[in-house]
Amino acid sequence: MPDVRSSYTDAVHFFDSVPPRELTHRFGSVLYVYNENILRRSCRALLEVSSHPGFRVNYSAKANSNPALLRIIREEGCLVDAMSPGELHNDILAGFAPHDILYVCNNVSADELRNAADHKVLVSVDSLSQLNLYGQVNPGGRVMIRINPGVGAGYHQKVVTGGKDTKFGIDPYTMNEVQAILNNHNLTLAGINQHIGSLFMEPDDYLSAVDIMLHFTAALPDALRAQLDIIDFGGGFGIPYHKYEDQERLNLARLGQGLHRRLEDFSAQTGYRGRFFVEPGRYLIAECGLLLGTVHVIKKNGATRYAGTDLGFNVLMRPILYDAFHDIEIYREGGVPDVRLVPQTIVGNICESGDILAKDRLLPELQEGDVIGILDAGAYGLAMASTYNQRPRPAEVLLTADGRARLIRRRETLEDMNLCFACEES
Ligand code: LLP
Repeated sequence: MPDVRSSYTDAVHFFDSVPPRELTHRFGSVLYVYNENILRRSCRALLEVSSHPGFRVNYSAKANSNPALLRIIREEGCLVDAMSPGELHNDILAGFAPHDILYVCNNVSADELRNAADHKVLVSVDSLSQLNLYGQVNPGGRVMIRINPGVGAGYHQKVVTGGKDTKFGIDPYTMNEVQAILNNHNLTLAGINQHIGSLFMEPDDYLSAVDIMLHFTAALPDALRAQLDIIDFGGGFGIPYHKYEDQERLNLARLGQGLHRRLEDFSAQTGYRGRFFVEPGRYLIAECGLLLGTVHVIKKNGATRYAGTDLGFNVLMRPILYDAFHDIEIYREGGVPDVRLVPQTIVGNICESGDILAKDRLLPELQEGDVIGILDAGAYGLAMASTYNQRPRPAEVLLTADGRARLIRRRETLEDMNLCFACEES
């Protein structure tokens, strides 16, 4: 049923099985909602990027590591990464086998490296120091290294992860030292990886970084290259957040053609028979997820019309952290489409003036009691949520392919938040 502003979710059949207001009524507000069909479609779109036999999609679980969603991603045929013991735990809960998990960490303790090795997952380290530590923890084992390709890309300085101004990766010019550490601990170099940054909308930067990586690999001593099983180009595949302006999508077909040709050429030239990974997080999970909240207050301060909601930066950090844009829909009891737009500033319930979800946003006039939907919130939404102001984190619901609304994470309780204080009392 069309609502005050819902043409995007109507078009993609997001709420076909259960309408948004029924969801907040049943599960409470605020609420993360995911659509299984949309998630499966994103997985398939990425899996089709290249038909090279070594091509794999390695989902980056930091974007969202709900085990129910991870399970769907596994069923579709993707592999998975982890960058902490918590993500590794969820990957395993979701049924991923150890050989389908890649542990891509940075600056971690010996205990954490040992935990990954004990779980028999392949670890990628991103400094000479961590390579040495890994050698001490797991002598004679297999290991990957993360290369800093010297270039970075991303929509915001805080998400650029390649280049010399970032903390990530090993300088490719230190391969002699890498080799010496590998020899010292009798380690096998099982793969190399990189990640230049997040959210590119044009294939070219990514393909240039692929070129750098392949060039680097081709130049490795034959004996070293012969051991490689994984060449991982990283993630960063962008999605269009401006849905109501028909923002163009990343041209996956063009990216795929460019990538496929490079993989074919590289395999032919070097005889490489291992696997090639892409490592997207956002592209798989952002668009299948939406955040529902409620407008509790409408007020004016000066010339600004404020809509006060329960959508503080505790539940969605992206706007305050990166000035990120998320489109907004409006669902109202008896609501009908309204195309008259007025500027409104949508704020949350956190005790900070930066708690702004959308500033001077042109939207149909909001009313108290409206439920609003924040689009494309599946990636780095709940994953980055906090309990700031001692507010429990929201629940997550999956709209399943067979039409059910399934609770896949219950709302945190005050008791959950306070569990860790128990030691103080005893
Ligand atoms: N691989 C590695 C090693 C990464 O560090 C990341 C993301 C990915 C893959 C997946 O990147 P994606 O495909 O999702 O762009 N919180 C930020 C994004 C930070 C990404 C950090 N690393 C945001 O909300 O935009």
